[in-house]
Amino acid sequence: MKLILAPMEGVVDFNMRQLLTDIGGFDLCVTEFVRIVDQVLSPKVYYRYCPELLTQGKTRAGTPVRVQLLGQDANYLAENAIVASELGSHGIDLNFGCPAKTVNKSKGGAVLLKTPEHIYEIVKKVREAVPLSNEVSAKIRLGFDDDTLSQEIFDAINQAGANTITIHARTKKDGYRPPAYWEKIKPLMDKPHAMQVIANGEVWNLDDYKRCQLRSGCVDVMLGRGALAKPDLAKQISCANLSQEYTELSWQSILVHIINSSMHNEEPKKEKYFSSRTKQWLRFLLLTYPQANDLFNDIKRLKLKDDVLNMLKEHAKII
Ligand SMILES: Cc1cc2nc3c(=O)[nH]c(=O)nc-3n(C[C@H](O)[C@H](O)[C@H](O)COP(=O)(O)O)c2cc1C
Repeated sequence: MKLILAPMEGVVDFNMRQLLTDIGGFDLCVTEFVRIVDQVLSPKVYYRYCPELLTQGKTRAGTPVRVQLLGQDANYLAENAIVASELGSHGIDLNFGCPAKTVNKSKGGAVLLKTPEHIYEIVKKVREAVPLSNEVSAKIRLGFDDDTLSQEIFDAINQAGANTITIHARTKKDGYRPPAYWEKIKPLMDKPHAMQVIANGEVWNLDDYKRCQLRSGCVDVMLGRGALAKPDLAKQISCANLSQEYTELSWQSILVHIINSSMHNEEPKKEKYFSSRTKQWLRFLLLTYPQANDLFNDIKRLKLKDDVLNMLKEHAKII
């Protein structure tokens, strides 16, 4: 029963992956998407998106990380997949679900869900380019405007030889509006297929996780915003799967994780990074920890990392 940390552009970066995998429970992380247009990107770009490539492609806690590529040109995607693979990415993930307008305009992301044959061509080229020992996965939504092509998309990805498919159980049109239609994944798997199928969408707690598994028919689940709202959600689920007792993390412990993380060890030119990312994250944490509200109010006007850090320490009662 695998748990995968979802790719989340602008949110789940290197620092967040380190922090969440330190807390534990994840079997794999996927990077924010790397956009491929008409060139083969240099290793430097891949190291920027995925600094874990410098440490055997694993986070500090030892969780493997997979680079995600987004684009529409099968040849460039394949060539870039070779680079990421050679640099040590644990598999290659292909993004067919991003709803962003800029990305869709240049025919990348979710817009490809309208043309399963194009998805087939991309997955096949990438699968052929990357050594068989390295997995190729695709991340999709159920469709663009509706889910009428979902089976065709699923079959195309299977026939193209992908090892894994992650299905965010909503269409592009649904955006991020609840619910996620987990039950729509199950019938797709009725046809014989060779892929590991991962369910994704709206898993915020242990109960959602179990219902998602039951309704989707998938044992493996990807966690996105739920892992931001509850950073120990994966740990709690994995303990439940192993019938181990688990005590949920207190607000104080979350703060200590943030204080001890590398989130504030950025270069001076990115001075605002820590304060803006912490504020962004507090909006998710507020869904689990009401105390996040007071902290947010105390830091909302702060920009310098040392000021934010001191306030965090005050709330954690370290100073
Ligand atoms: C801020 C944000 C950024 C995202 N960035 C990506 C991305 O880079 N690649 C991708 O495949 N999905 C991306 N997603 C979609 C998530 O991976 C996931 O499929 C979606 O949030 C549903 O899962 P959840 O309900 O558990 O959050 C993003 C979602 C959000 C909210």
